Amino acid sequence: MYPLRRNRRLRTNEAIRSLVRETIISPNDFLVPLFVVEGKGVKDEIPSMPNYFRYSLDLLEKEVKELWSLGLKSVLLFVKVPDNLKDNKGKEALNPNGLMQRAIKTVKNACPDMLVMTDVALDPYSAYGHDGIVENGMIVNDPTTNFLAEMSISHAKAGADFVAPSDMMDGRILTIREALEDEGFINTGIMSYSAKYASAFYGPFRDALDSAPVDMVDIPKDKKTYQMDYANRIEAIRETNMDIDEGADIVMVKPGLSYLDILRDIKNEVNVPVAVYQVSGEYAMIKAAAEKGWLNHDQVMMETTMAFKRAGADIIASYFSKDVVKLIS
Ligand code: PBG
Repeated sequence: MYPLRRNRRLRTNEAIRSLVRETIISPNDFLVPLFVVEGKGVKDEIPSMPNYFRYSLDLLEKEVKELWSLGLKSVLLFVKVPDNLKDNKGKEALNPNGLMQRAIKTVKNACPDMLVMTDVALDPYSAYGHDGIVENGMIVNDPTTNFLAEMSISHAKAGADFVAPSDMMDGRILTIREALEDEGFINTGIMSYSAKYASAFYGPFRDALDSAPVDMVDIPKDKKTYQMDYANRIEAIRETNMDIDEGADIVMVKPGLSYLDILRDIKNEVNVPVAVYQVSGEYAMIKAAAEKGWLNHDQVMMETTMAFKRAGADIIASYFSKDVVKLIS
């Protein structure tokens, strides 16, 4: 009770503040999303994601070596698929010599100990920009999960350590886990996007991969029949528990900043590692406000990163990974 307890004593200077700090950030916390494109010598800045790039395989190699030298040891790969290779069923995703498969090998050759996770969903391969197969104006669940299992096997064969299904179909974790077991990939892990909301914060990512749902008759305009309603909280726990029962090694909450309550709920509920994804729109907002001089970029970046860890994230997937690590080292 005051005046016996004056809380400000523990805030007097940086030395005491750092001594009593409850949450510490290190390079071990991060998962670095990387965008890969065809070509040579390509390092393409994404317009809605300033200072974030799509790399061709040769420059991807350089980038992962730099990440490794900074202490960043895990990447999450996304590919931008040329339009002429897109169709409804995403069959290019199974091409053993496809861009994703080559990207996995490129990273593993450049940095054999780098942990490679791969995005598993149809959208970059889908002519309609959906995470599943479209039939009669609907996203069909079970044919999609069977396809995602084949896609996961293909990534595992190419050398992926973890597959990361980001599609939100029902039962896909079980289907993928069983397929991996059947094929002998018993050590290939699954990081499930288990509580993934239908969010407008994914806009810049869809620019980066040119993967937004198309505007066509009989094609759903949004992802609300599979991604979660952002009004819901209990549902996130149900989704996450089901994915764990089906074999998810790591679960995820996505997006990040607007869902810190969900992140804490999940952290309190489950006993597997919990990841959070600070998504493209969150990155873009901070970049835009900083460009205008309205926010201090580095301070806001650190504050939001700390918020994820404080809210319970064991793993932070972030486009700021490199910048944060440079700042704290
Ligand atoms: C695709 C996928 C998306 C993101 C990750 N995987 C977009 C979507 O679901 O539409 C979003 C990542 C981001 O915005 O940074 N299944």
